[in-house]
Amino acid sequence: MTYAELYRRSLQDPEAFWLEAAAGIDWVTPPTRAMHDDRAPLYDWFRDAEVNTCWNAVDRHVEAGRGDQVAIIHDSPITGTIRNLSYADLRDRVARLAGALRAQGIAKGDRVIIYMPMVPEALEAMLACARLGAVHSVVFGGFAAAELATRIDDARPKAIIAASCGIEPGRVVRYKPLLDGAIEAATHKPEFCVILQREQEVADLTPGRDLDWHGFQEGAAPAECVPVPGDHPAYILYTSGTTGQPKGVVRPTAGHLVALHWSMRNIYGVAPGEVFWAASDVGWVVGHSYICYGPLIHGNTTIVFEGKPVGTPDAGTFWRVIQDHKVASFFTAPTAFRAIKREDPEGRLIADYDLSSLRCLYLAGERADPDTVTWAGDKLGVPVIDHWWQTETGWAIAANPMGLDPLPVKIGSPSVPMPGYDVRILGEDGQPLPQGELGAIAVKLPLPPGTLATLWQAEERFVKSYLSTFPGHYETGDAGYIDEDGYLYIMARTDDVINVAGHRLSTGAMEEVLASHPDVGECAVIGVADPLKGQVPLGFVCLNKGVSRDPAELVAECVRLVRDRIGPVAAFRLAVVVERLPKTRSGKILRATMAKIADGAPWKMPATIDDPAILDEIAEALGTIGYPKAD
Ligand code: COA
Ligand code: AMP
Repeated sequence: MTYAELYRRSLQDPEAFWLEAAAGIDWVTPPTRAMHDDRAPLYDWFRDAEVNTCWNAVDRHVEAGRGDQVAIIHDSPITGTIRNLSYADLRDRVARLAGALRAQGIAKGDRVIIYMPMVPEALEAMLACARLGAVHSVVFGGFAAAELATRIDDARPKAIIAASCGIEPGRVVRYKPLLDGAIEAATHKPEFCVILQREQEVADLTPGRDLDWHGFQEGAAPAECVPVPGDHPAYILYTSGTTGQPKGVVRPTAGHLVALHWSMRNIYGVAPGEVFWAASDVGWVVGHSYICYGPLIHGNTTIVFEGKPVGTPDAGTFWRVIQDHKVASFFTAPTAFRAIKREDPEGRLIADYDLSSLRCLYLAGERADPDTVTWAGDKLGVPVIDHWWQTETGWAIAANPMGLDPLPVKIGSPSVPMPGYDVRILGEDGQPLPQGELGAIAVKLPLPPGTLATLWQAEERFVKSYLSTFPGHYETGDAGYIDEDGYLYIMARTDDVINVAGHRLSTGAMEEVLASHPDVGECAVIGVADPLKGQVPLGFVCLNKGVSRDPAELVAECVRLVRDRIGPVAAFRLAVVVERLPKTRSGKILRATMAKIADGAPWKMPATIDDPAILDEIAEALGTIGYPKAD
C-alpha cells in the first residue's frame, strides 16, 4: 500500500486501521473496538482490552522460540565493557525483579521512580514495573536533586529504583547524595529504595529504607505478567513546560504497544531479529520508545549505549558500535552529529569501520539543520531521515515511512504526517492558513494511539495546556508550515521551551531559579543559537534596588544556582547583569526580540514596546559577552 492510501485510510476509517495494527500485539482480552470517544475531547484507545506490556516486549519472544536472540546489548565505552542479554535472560531477570518488588508490596497502579544511568538494569526496572502493572516514571540522571524532588511529590512513588552512580566523561556522578537530597526535600516519602551498586561507586545504604538490588532479589519467586486494561497508564514521563512545574505525560498501555509496534517496521524499516540502535538516554522519550519498548515489543535487538558521540574515546565510537553489533537502523539527535563533525570534519574515522549493515539514519529531538543532514548523508552513504515528535506523542507525528513506502527526502523537512495525525497549520484566530504560510502546528483530535492521554493527576492542566487554544485540536507548541507536496517544516517553538543538545528545557523554570537569588529583582532567560547544541540558555538579571554587586561574581552565583537546582543538563553558563528589561506597555518581557538581537537576526521594533531605549542597553550588554557571535 502506498503512504498516501494508508494515511487517508487512517483518517477516514481509524477503527479499521488501528484494529488491524492491533493484530501485532498479544492480547489477554482483545479489544472489541479501537477508539472510545465518550469523554471527548479526551479519547481512549483499546480501552476494553486487557494486555501486558512486559509479555509483549519479552515473554512472547521467548515463547515464539527467540529466547536465545540477544535482546539487549550494553555497550559502554565509558567503562570499557560490552554485555549481551538474551530474551530468555531478560525474561528471567525481569520476572525475578518483579517478584522481589511484589514481595515488597508493589502492585498494579503503584508508581515507581527509576533514576538510573544507561545500564540494562534501567530497562529491566521499567519492564519489571510493566510486568506488575506498576507505573514507572524514569528521571534523567542529569537533573539535580530539586528536580527529582518535584517529580517525587507529583508521582508519589511507593518505591524508587536507583543506581549508585552514573558516569560522565571525567567524573563519576554520585546518584545516592542526589537521591537522599531529593527524598529529604520532598514532602512525599517512598516506602523503600532499591540501589544498584556499581563498581565505580559503592554507596552507603540508608538502613530501613534502602535495599540492595541483588540482595533483595535473593529467593524472590518470579512474577507472572499481570493483565491491565488498555487505558491503564504504562508510565509517566515528566517534560518541560512554560513553568518550573514539569508536566507528567501519561502514556496509556495498549495504544503505546500498538503504535510502537507499527512504527518499527513501517517507519524504521526493521524486521524482528535485526539490531536497532537509538543513541539517546532512557530518561527521555526517545529512550522509552526506541531504546526500551519499541525494539523489544517488535522482537529486535536494542543497544544500551553508555557513552558520548565524541571523547569515549573518539569521534569514531558510533561507527565502531554500528560495525560491531551490525546495526541496521540508527537513531540519534542532530547535535551528536554536529559534535562528531566538529572533531572529524572530513569523516575520516568512518573509513576505519565496516558500516555495511546500516540502512538508514534517523534524526529527531531538535531541528535537523541542512548542513548536518547533508554531511551525514554524504559521509555515511545512507538516507538521512529527519522525523518530528514530542514527549507527548511518544512516536513520530511526521516522518518518512521507510519500511512502507519511502518518499523523496526534502532536506529541512521531517516529511509527512504519520497515520492518525491530522496535522493543521492554524493562524492566531484558529483558522487554517494557506499552504506555505507559517503558523501554529496543531493536530485535529483525536490524536492516534500511543500519544498522551492526560497529565498525571492534572486533567484540567492537560486540557488548558494542549486543547484550549484551538478547540478540537491538540496544540503542539511548534510553529511551521506545509508545502505543496504535503511536507511539513518545523521552524520554532511558540512557547518558552528551548532545545539544548536535543534536550527540552524550560526557560521559565530557569527564570524561577534565578529569581530566587536574594540579589536578583527581575530576570529573563532566552535561548540563543549555538553551533553545537542548537540552542543554549542565556540569562538577563536585574539587581534589587540598592544592591551593588560585582557582576562577574553574581553571574557565577547564578550559574551555580541553576546547576544545583535544575542540573548540569540545563547547560546554563551565560548571563549578564542589566539595569532593566525591555517590556511591552502591559508589562510582558520581550524575550523573542532579545533572542533575535542576541542571534544577530533581523528584528522589528515591537509596536507595543514601553521604552525602546532599553533594547540598546540589552544589545550593549550582549556585546560584553560576545553576542551576536560572528559566523
Ligand atoms: N547524568 C549526569 N550528568 C549529565 C548527564 C547524565 N545522564 N547527561 C549530561 N550530563 C551533564 C554533562 O556531563 C554536562 O556536564 P558539564 O556541564 O559538567 O560538562 C552537562 O550535563 C551538559 O551535557 P550535554 O548538554 O550533553 O553536553 P556535553 O557537552 O556533555 O555533550 C553532546 C554534548 C552533543 C556530545 C551531547 O549533548 C550529546 O551526545 N547529545 C546527544 C543528545 C541526545 O541524545 N538527546 C536525546 C534526545 S534524542
Ligand atoms: P521532546 O519532548 O523533548 O522530545 O521535545 C520535543 C520538541 O523538540 C518538539 O516540540 C520540537 O520543538 C523539537 N523537535 C523534535 N524533533 C524535531 C524535529 N525533527 N525537527 C524540529 N524540531 C524537533
